[in-house]
This record gives sequence, C-alpha cells and structure tokens, in this order.
Amino acid sequence: MAKRQHKPVCTRHELHEASYLTRKICFKNQPVSAIIFAFEDNAYAYINHCMHMHRPLNCEQDAIFDDTGKYLRCSMHGFIFDPKTGECQSPVCFGQRLQALRLEEIDGTLYFAEKHLTLID
Ligand code: FES
Repeated sequence: MAKRQHKPVCTRHELHEASYLTRKICFKNQPVSAIIFAFEDNAYAYINHCMHMHRPLNCEQDAIFDDTGKYLRCSMHGFIFDPKTGECQSPVCFGQRLQALRLEEIDGTLYFAEKHLTLID
C-alpha cells in the first residue's frame, strides 16, 4: 500500500455531524486555515480567506453558510459564495474565487490531495 502524504482531515461521518470543520494547514509555505464542509453530499474545502477584506468567513459568527444554506457567507460583510466553486456572487468581488483545496476520500476518510499542503492539526 502506498504511503499517505497527509494525515486524515476527518471522516465522512464527522463532516456530516458538523456544519463545517476548520483545520490549520501550511499551504505553499503559508500557515492558513481551511474550511471543510459537505454540500449536497459532496465534500469541499477552501482556504478560509475572504478576498474582500482578507478575513476568515467565520470571523464574526461561528457559521460559514447563509440562512438559506445554499451559499457560503462571510460573516464580516455578508458576501456570498457558491459552495461548489467558491465563486463570489456579491458585486464587489463578483467572479473571484475562494482558493479551493482538493480532497480525496478513501474508505470514508477524507485527505487533502494537494501537493504543497501540510496538515498542522
Ligand atoms: S471580509 Fe468577507 S465580506 Fe468583507
């Protein structure tokens, strides 16, 4: 069996139990936070960094979705993002995207599938 490059991020079960999870990572030599969540039964991960004023989406509230549950929402100024693509839907940053992080699922456990990423915790 091939040696895994990364520690597990979480199990699929843990992801469904929580509305979202955060992990500290080192990505391209920068320590940053990642958000991981399930949406329409798929798992997604992004760098937790709103491109508007460079704040984490959950900086003001312990939430990353809007009230409809259809869009990611930055709690600082309320900009919304497509959870499947990370694309901003709000006018000021329309079309800009959150940095997506690829995930890989093996036997119900999720791993980051990015070359320049190390899971810190
Ligand atoms: S910092 Fe995210 S909407 Fe302003």
